[in-house]
Amino acid sequence: MIITIDGPAGSGKSSLSRRLAEQLGFSFLDTGAMYRAVTYLVVKNNLPILDNPLLQNLLKNLSITFDDKEVFVNGENVTGMIRRPEIDKKVSSVSELGSVRDKLVELQRAIAEKGDYICEGRDMGSVVFPHAQRKFYLDASPEERARRRANQLFNRRMIEKIDGDILNKIRNEIEERDSKDSTRKNSPLTIPADSIKIDTDGKTIEQVLNEMMKSINI
Ligand code: DC
Repeated sequence: MIITIDGPAGSGKSSLSRRLAEQLGFSFLDTGAMYRAVTYLVVKNNLPILDNPLLQNLLKNLSITFDDKEVFVNGENVTGMIRRPEIDKKVSSVSELGSVRDKLVELQRAIAEKGDYICEGRDMGSVVFPHAQRKFYLDASPEERARRRANQLFNRRMIEKIDGDILNKIRNEIEERDSKDSTRKNSPLTIPADSIKIDTDGKTIEQVLNEMMKSINI
């Protein structure tokens, strides 16, 4: 069985996907981590962000694997690297490229066909798994999403404090990434017509999890 969870950055997708997977005994596929892992390789190899033979070569030999909360690309543990601000800045441009999407969609389908999966991303219900048994779309206001992202960065010691200036900066970056992710030509972030839309503003993880469990009903 496949359950998809789509939504913009900071909508609560990742925490909820993990919790839902634990509760149902499903595996969890974080497809954002896959786009981030490719972006990490592009940056590491100093490649231009273009569909060209160098990128195609990199994709031909690409291996992405997960072990619990760790992400490995070509055998290298990149878990700590892929959530850094320099990857945040470039990931939307890398994930716009047709060759990157084709390769990652192929890998995502190959992984998820092996069992019961919660698949989280931007195009899970619309493009990658159109026949998923349940589809969710999570959203929250830009202010709430910026607050969550600031807390994450603070907990990972990537920022030293949270104040109005930092929240504004993060909010601008999130809105810029959302706008790129929603207006790109290839598989933009959209709300699948057959999805259950949940606004997570002001709700705890438990409350949203309960709402989701009720509508899954298995
Ligand atoms: O969920 P995230 O913030 O880790 O995702 C990082 C980026 O990857 C996001 O800005 C857009 C891209 N992405 C995508 O294009 N398609 C997906 N299925 C998942 C993520």
